[in-house]
Amino acid sequence: MQRSKHIRSVKSRKQLCSVPIDSDAKPVYGSGTPGPLEMYRLQLSNRQEYYRRKLEQFDDITFINLFGQKVVLALTPDGAQAVAMNLDKALASGPSWGMFIGLAFRRGILLLDFDEHRLHRSVMQSAFSSPNLKGYLQEMQPMLARKVGALPPGQVQLAHVFKSISLSIALEVFVGVKLPQAEADRIIKAFTDCLASVGAFVRYPVPGGQWARAIAGRKDLEAFFYGLLPQKRATETPDLFSVLCHARSEQGDAFSDEDVVNHMIFVLFAAHDTSTVALTTMAYYMARHPEWQERARARALSLPAELAYEHLAEMTELDWIMKEALRLNSPVPWLARQAVRDTTVNGYYIPAGTMVMAPTGAVHANPRVWHDPYTFDPERFSPERAEDKGHRFRWMPFGGGVHKCIGLYFAQMEIKTILHHLLRNYEWSIPADYRWTLEPRSLGEPVDGLRTQLQRVTVSSPAPDDGE
Ligand code: HEM
Repeated sequence: MQRSKHIRSVKSRKQLCSVPIDSDAKPVYGSGTPGPLEMYRLQLSNRQEYYRRKLEQFDDITFINLFGQKVVLALTPDGAQAVAMNLDKALASGPSWGMFIGLAFRRGILLLDFDEHRLHRSVMQSAFSSPNLKGYLQEMQPMLARKVGALPPGQVQLAHVFKSISLSIALEVFVGVKLPQAEADRIIKAFTDCLASVGAFVRYPVPGGQWARAIAGRKDLEAFFYGLLPQKRATETPDLFSVLCHARSEQGDAFSDEDVVNHMIFVLFAAHDTSTVALTTMAYYMARHPEWQERARARALSLPAELAYEHLAEMTELDWIMKEALRLNSPVPWLARQAVRDTTVNGYYIPAGTMVMAPTGAVHANPRVWHDPYTFDPERFSPERAEDKGHRFRWMPFGGGVHKCIGLYFAQMEIKTILHHLLRNYEWSIPADYRWTLEPRSLGEPVDGLRTQLQRVTVSSPAPDDGE
């Protein structure tokens, strides 16, 4: 078979570990420690090419030595599904995600596991119910219309605009506060400093270093949320902060102040950078492919300026563009787990203590799954082609299993609503030969903030159909 020929042809392949005699699991092979070129490819936020080569060289499960340990990579939908669904509960999220975000986002829900995770998630889930989502949409629209409408025509770094808007939304909708700009900027800075720790090489608080900045950022965020806690505990309001303060488990347990603050810090982090990357990627591809911008604008102009929840389902073109952008530049680079005991993933033997990752970019660039995977082609999501259908983990930007993104519907609603307002009011463009470069250690943000030329839309919206 083609695939095993490839596997045999890799001379330097190494085995993760020996498989016990009484196990019929397959051994995991890989290339071990990456050389400088491999390391360089891995550094880039767009790592799809790296994964494609691995898939050619090895099977759907392989390993490399990273972060001073062996890391198993699940490169196919089947592998990703096995990692996410974790049917024998042998994979934990806390130890692996903790390595990346544990300093700044400790005890966030993604870092909790098993029964504790289930309990916390069931409480948090109520904040994302459909009536609450409808309420959030109503709340965010006037603010969005105002903020988007106030953008000055001319050169604009759209990634920065999206970042500021999505953080304002998170603060208003999840925290339930309207902050003066200076205070909002302080919170953005605290989050940015916290994020700096994710890719820090020096994990020691050298003054002025990334680690020290993250510790200071975390302190600022804690001060901010603890400061608001008494008023949130005192009255019930329709925001996540209040929901967490007043939620009770079936046994009547409540979240402690620390739980509430930890969850708030994590959700705000999870909500705003991911949405920013998705929005920026959509804007980038719509600028490179103006025909898609036009198609999406035509739809936006056919809908009312103020959207009802039901209108979101009618935004067909924007929906395909969003799916394609999330496929090409997935904001969460992998689902990260660690084996807490010996187990198998998709039939491969994984010893206790091994880190196991399902890279979203690997599945999304897999030529066995997607036609011409590097090409921007939103129509692949049309009902006629439906390339994403047939396997739950072909398209997996929001993960799956018990840790599946809790903000999935919120994110889609927010992204579509922001772009609805942008499309109705502006056209944006980039030079024809511009190709973005992504910040290597970001979640997928362009280094130049996506400089675009904004121009007010001159077409007037069609008169509403009066039925005549
Ligand atoms: C396009 C935007 C987003 C993407 C691509 C995304 C992606 C993901 C992924 C892949 C995971 C699972 C990680 C894993 O299993 O290892 C996750 C978890 C999570 N996301 Fe999102 N996310 C987005 C937006 C949001 C928003 C807007 C919110 C909040 C409103 C949010 C809140 C969360 C939370 C709380 C978790 C952890 C859930 C748990 O552990 O039970 N995300 N997200």
